[in-house]
Amino acid sequence: MFVRQKNKMETHMIAIGADHAGFEYKEKIKDLLRSMGLEFKDFGTNSSESTDYPDYAHHVAESVSAGKAEYGILVCGTGIGMAIVANKHTGIRASSVESREAAKLAREHNDANVLAIGARLTSWDKAKEIITTFLSTKFEGGRHQRRVDKIHTLTNL
Ligand code: RB5
Repeated sequence: MFVRQKNKMETHMIAIGADHAGFEYKEKIKDLLRSMGLEFKDFGTNSSESTDYPDYAHHVAESVSAGKAEYGILVCGTGIGMAIVANKHTGIRASSVESREAAKLAREHNDANVLAIGARLTSWDKAKEIITTFLSTKFEGGRHQRRVDKIHTLTNL
């Protein structure tokens, strides 16, 4: 299977990050991951003070790209800025997701490895459903593998 990552996967750890708009959800995500028995690394931010989403998306995406984390979860106001930044990194397939169905398909068809959530657009109950679906859904492979491989060969990312 073609996986363009800087290193092979070393862990099942989850990298998480948020800007000020996503900070409160990030703290709740930590509780959720603990309750699921999952390990995580928190790349900040650590308060609701205004900050810049690319800083956090960059560190989380680097961690996944390097094989230090299996998945990344990013939260900003919309999820959009986080996904844009994360997708500039080698081997990253980030999806900004607002429904359980999209979370499922992002894993099954796109083998998405970074989930971006918009705290200003998505209720916490919905975010929780999106996260648990994303983390429990397997990539289908088959024809989707060929398409996922092309994402990386055609973009050299
Ligand atoms: C911050 O105000 C907001 O722009 C940011 O959280 C995010 O939504 C960007 O995509």
